[in-house]
Amino acid sequence: MADQADLEFTYSLIDRIFRLSLGELADFSGAKYDGDFSLTLEQAQRRKHDYVAEQIGIEPGRRMLDLGCGWGPLLADVRRRGATGVGVTLSSAQAAACRRHGLDVHIQDARQVTSETFGPFDAIASLGAFEHFCSREEHDAGRQDEVYAGLFANIATMLPPGGRLYLQTMVFGRNMIPLEEVSIDAPRDSDAWYVALMQHQFPGSFLPFGEEQVVRTAAPHFRLVESSSGRLDYIETIKQWRQRFGERTARKTLMKLQLLPRWLTSSDFRLAFTSGVSANSVCFERELLDHYRLVFEKV
Ligand SMILES: C[S@@+](CC[C@H](N)C(=O)[O-])C[C@H]1O[C@@H](n2cnc3c(N)ncnc32)[C@H](O)[C@@H]1O
Repeated sequence: MADQADLEFTYSLIDRIFRLSLGELADFSGAKYDGDFSLTLEQAQRRKHDYVAEQIGIEPGRRMLDLGCGWGPLLADVRRRGATGVGVTLSSAQAAACRRHGLDVHIQDARQVTSETFGPFDAIASLGAFEHFCSREEHDAGRQDEVYAGLFANIATMLPPGGRLYLQTMVFGRNMIPLEEVSIDAPRDSDAWYVALMQHQFPGSFLPFGEEQVVRTAAPHFRLVESSSGRLDYIETIKQWRQRFGERTARKTLMKLQLLPRWLTSSDFRLAFTSGVSANSVCFERELLDHYRLVFEKV
């Protein structure tokens, strides 16, 4: 699993630049354009929230848990609908930002949350966090299925029969290369280099092999109700993010200057944040990666 240090690296270090670029309640997972790229990023993110609310039943009086809540965009939407949301994240900067907006967010490992932690929920969501729940090392030790199965077993303790889980995650795609070929020393622009770059950007993280692995490991507790690929929508989302990150403001420039010592001293930081390419986007284009929106119901 990506531990707290990994997630502080990915999300807390550039927390203010994220919020200045994408907004205080920044959505940092694939938006839902449904192929209509005339929508703005904000409209497509709203469409995603509407879809989640409709699929898992977010209504006044209901209680929802967000596993890996980021800067709290879904929790804010849940509140707007008159429901109650609880979120967990491992990034202290995200938790602080969420609390500033009055959201009920805890620094807690999502994999360990059970009904003992915050009590029962009517619905659970997790967007863009599943990618962090299993590490390459856990995969290599043959534990990937066990990690996911443990998570689903814990989630099941919190939902009533028929209760719904919305899970949105990247997966390895149909053109994924053998893992032993993945190397940051591979020729720049090769599949092997892009996948390695992605692993530098998200230390401690690893992906399921297709939606099949997710559905199979969830199966003892959950049946799949709906599934769709968000791969092309994610490419557009990343394009929009990059434009917003690229827009210069005095405050952002100041923040970036404050990160200069990191840039000078950490090759990991340089690779992760300033390599000038979006590894994820290229990996989606080449179908080394895919992306799924999965709706489950507890059996
Ligand atoms: C890509 S962000 C997505 C944030 C948010 N769901 C959204 O859609 O904007 C991934 C989130 O997962 C959280 N996360 C990753 N692993 C976690 C873990 N084991 N426990 C709790 N949160 C975790 C990160 O801290 C971050 O908030």
